[in-house]
Amino acid sequence: MARIPKELVDQIIQTADIVEVVGDFVQLKRKGQNLWAPCPFHNEKSPSFSVNPAKGLYKCFGCGKAGGVVQFVMDIEGTSYVEALKYLAKKYAITVQEEEKTPQEQLAQNERDSQFIVSNWAKDHYHRLLQNTEEGMSVGYGYLKERGLNLATIQTFELGYSLDQWDDLLKSATAAGYELKYLEKTGLVVKREDDQGHDTGRRYDRFRGRVMFPIHNISGRVVGFGARTLKRDDKMAKYLNSPESEIYHKSDVLYGLFQARQAIRTQEVCYLVEGYLDVLSLYQGGIKNVVASSGTSLTEGQIRLIKRYSDNVTVLYDGDAAGIKASLRGTDLLLEGGLNVRVVLFPDGDDPDSYIRKVGDQQFAEYIETKSQDFITFKTTLVARDAAGDPVKKAEAIRQVLTSIAKVPDAIKRQVFLQQTSVAFGIDEQVLITEYNKLARPAPGAPRPAEAPAGSSARPAAPVAATRPLTPEEEAEAAMYGAFEPGAPAVAAPPAEAEDAEAVDLLQLCEREVLRLLVLHAARAVDTDVSVAQYLLGQLEEAPLKTPLYAELWALCRQELLAGRFPEARQLGQTERADLRSLVSDLATERYDISPNWRVKEIYVFNEVDLPKVACDNAVLRLNKCHVQRELNRRLEALRQPMLDDAELFENLRAIKDLKQLDNQLAGLLGTVIPRGA
Ligand code: CTP
Ligand code: MN
Repeated sequence: MARIPKELVDQIIQTADIVEVVGDFVQLKRKGQNLWAPCPFHNEKSPSFSVNPAKGLYKCFGCGKAGGVVQFVMDIEGTSYVEALKYLAKKYAITVQEEEKTPQEQLAQNERDSQFIVSNWAKDHYHRLLQNTEEGMSVGYGYLKERGLNLATIQTFELGYSLDQWDDLLKSATAAGYELKYLEKTGLVVKREDDQGHDTGRRYDRFRGRVMFPIHNISGRVVGFGARTLKRDDKMAKYLNSPESEIYHKSDVLYGLFQARQAIRTQEVCYLVEGYLDVLSLYQGGIKNVVASSGTSLTEGQIRLIKRYSDNVTVLYDGDAAGIKASLRGTDLLLEGGLNVRVVLFPDGDDPDSYIRKVGDQQFAEYIETKSQDFITFKTTLVARDAAGDPVKKAEAIRQVLTSIAKVPDAIKRQVFLQQTSVAFGIDEQVLITEYNKLARPAPGAPRPAEAPAGSSARPAAPVAATRPLTPEEEAEAAMYGAFEPGAPAVAAPPAEAEDAEAVDLLQLCEREVLRLLVLHAARAVDTDVSVAQYLLGQLEEAPLKTPLYAELWALCRQELLAGRFPEARQLGQTERADLRSLVSDLATERYDISPNWRVKEIYVFNEVDLPKVACDNAVLRLNKCHVQRELNRRLEALRQPMLDDAELFENLRAIKDLKQLDNQLAGLLGTVIPRGA
């Protein structure tokens, strides 16, 4: 099947730089020898997708997709090996002298390839018609010129024209050897059915007498068309669009993204407009980082696409009531996606296209620069103005703003927005936070419900609470990255950055608690003839304390016990070491209902004098859990470091899985051991 000669294949593979190729689809960030990005093959917020330039390989530790440069193109495009090679050849300007192939042979490659090929052919056909036919020139090109578009824009976006006939495309395509099947599958040709829904055998072109806007996917392949009528006929839809097909998933495509992606990256913002014409006018006016949702409301897939190139979106909508409503509606989803959203409204009656043509490129650029507002601020002023003087309305307005704030996954940003809102409405921040907490009710099972805004949102930002058992891969992934998400459950490891300060702190607390029980209750019986001292020293024989001073006291206690004495506070108070003496006296006088530093909320007050065994088990389990979490953190951090070879990597993943399991077991044990008092 492969018609590309072996030498050429080698040349393509050698020339293609995996960082460049992958970099067209995701934003890679270097960390050590590898580059990392959020995976383009599955939905995630933190990068588990890596590229190793030295080896020319990519691998996602979340979903497992892996391979070389050709495989990457095949995966991201869903094309065959040959099509992927051709894509790379085109990118690197390598001429592929294909052996003569009939269209049938071309089409024989695979279903998706065939649909790409026929769509590409149709795009060329429409483009030819626009420029080389009388009708195309006068009607199609004439219209685009009237709309202010120049030839360069027409070429960049490969605009075209469909003749006002029933079967121009059908005839031309069949004459060129393309199969009807694929013309139908891509929706270019429609089959007629009789009243009973039977195929009459008659076929006709879907697009007739329209300006054609090819819709490209992010690698520049044509997947469908938008087609604008030029007739002033109210009964006719202004736009006709290709139907969904194997290659065209509307919810995963943004018009203009292929042409805009580099500019989005360099400008570090993506402008979002509604229509094809808005994209074209802005692009021509020098604002190249612009994409359109094409009239439909934004989808999560589209938001994920934007996120591959930038975290910042500015929504450019009409200033009329409908436009404002639309921008209010779509933006919550953008916020949920973790994007920083700004809004620009145009004077009533203008959309981006009409406005840029009215005021010119320069002034337009200044306008969006100066008039853009942060979305939450925008929404706040809007609803605050609306509600002025009406307390009932005001309460409702505040609730609306809080709902948007709850969608923001970043806790710090939420905090800032809450402050802003409290100023805008003249409401005490604490009152607002209380209200917010009521509103942003945590998902069932979500941790730390009492904590102010962090960690809770109306729809949880990260799907941490899985309802079905995780596969090992998912488990590892969840362990890997869930732990770094704000608002992850308390059992998850603390953020890596905080590991040193926070985890060490926790470890010290756990060790101190063991020591405290020891010196306070050494002689007390946990069982018929086992003392607290024997019990604790026995339990922790294998794992000596890590905090230096504590370890010394621990050793001293052991000595005492071996010498047949209970290492009680009174006894230990005899030691010459002043630092140990003072530690002992601190421990002995410490309130047993535990220092406020315990972050973990499930601290239960129970009587350790009556239940020394429970107290000991509790303390030991906590200490063990702390060790497990530290190890887990270490492993997770190691995963984020590049240069792991595969063996090391899998060993790490396995260890993480085991540790997670252990951690959960310990949590479970803690839950049963601790009597739920207080
Ligand atoms: N749209 C559509 N079907 C329609 C109307 C609109 O698919 N019947 C989509 C198109 O993607 C269009 C977008 O919604 O680009 C915005 O609609 P509109 O503002 O009406 O179109 P413009 O592209 O601005 O076109 P024009 O300025 O020529 O009216
Ligand atoms: Mn318009």
